[in-house]
Amino acid sequence: MNFSAELIAWYTDNKRDLPWRNTTDAYIIWLSEIILQQTRVEQGMPYFYRFAERYPTVTAFAAAHEDDILKLWQGLGYYSRGRNMLKTAQLVQQQYNGVFPVSYHQLIKLKGIGEYTAAAISSFSANEARAVVDGNVYRVLARYFGIDEPINSPKGKKTFQKIADDVLDNARPALHNQAIMEFGAMLCKPKNPACGICPVRMDCIAFKTNATTCLPVKLKT
Ligand code: ADE
Repeated sequence: MNFSAELIAWYTDNKRDLPWRNTTDAYIIWLSEIILQQTRVEQGMPYFYRFAERYPTVTAFAAAHEDDILKLWQGLGYYSRGRNMLKTAQLVQQQYNGVFPVSYHQLIKLKGIGEYTAAAISSFSANEARAVVDGNVYRVLARYFGIDEPINSPKGKKTFQKIADDVLDNARPALHNQAIMEFGAMLCKPKNPACGICPVRMDCIAFKTNATTCLPVKLKT
């Protein structure tokens, strides 16, 4: 099995059942990804349920008052996320007739959607072959491939995106992306990674050189 196949096999056996993983509705996936941008899964989950229930479609979201959205957002922080969401929902309602776009190129133009979020929505909702790179992915790739370029330098970002693109399983991008993020969140953790039960440790540079605590490298800003 190659790297991606190992991660997918691990994911299939070990994944958490998270509500946004049981849908291909781009609006619902967008909702979950924006809420989770600076928020832990456990903290974001109740907010996700409240928003999805109150605003089940992008059309409903677009018709909301900003005050109501910000009230529902209370406690999550980074309130610009909530404001940007309303602007984006209104634009999707007007320009796309309330059909949330699923292609990376359309998504990347929307307010509040960067490279990670565009890759996440396009792969999860339409299986577009776009590799996600978030903090989990940086850590998994830095350790497995032994990359010590800083993840927050322009050169490092390019290097990691290239590797992420190279290891992506183009036949099942949604599954691959979920798998590598879950693997980083649950097994290849920042502190005390579970190398003892890791299915790819024999090929992991950081494990073989005892360097898991040193990777990834992040420059102080
Ligand atoms: N954090 C951000 N996106 C996520 C996802 N799709 N699943 C789990 N955690 C996430």
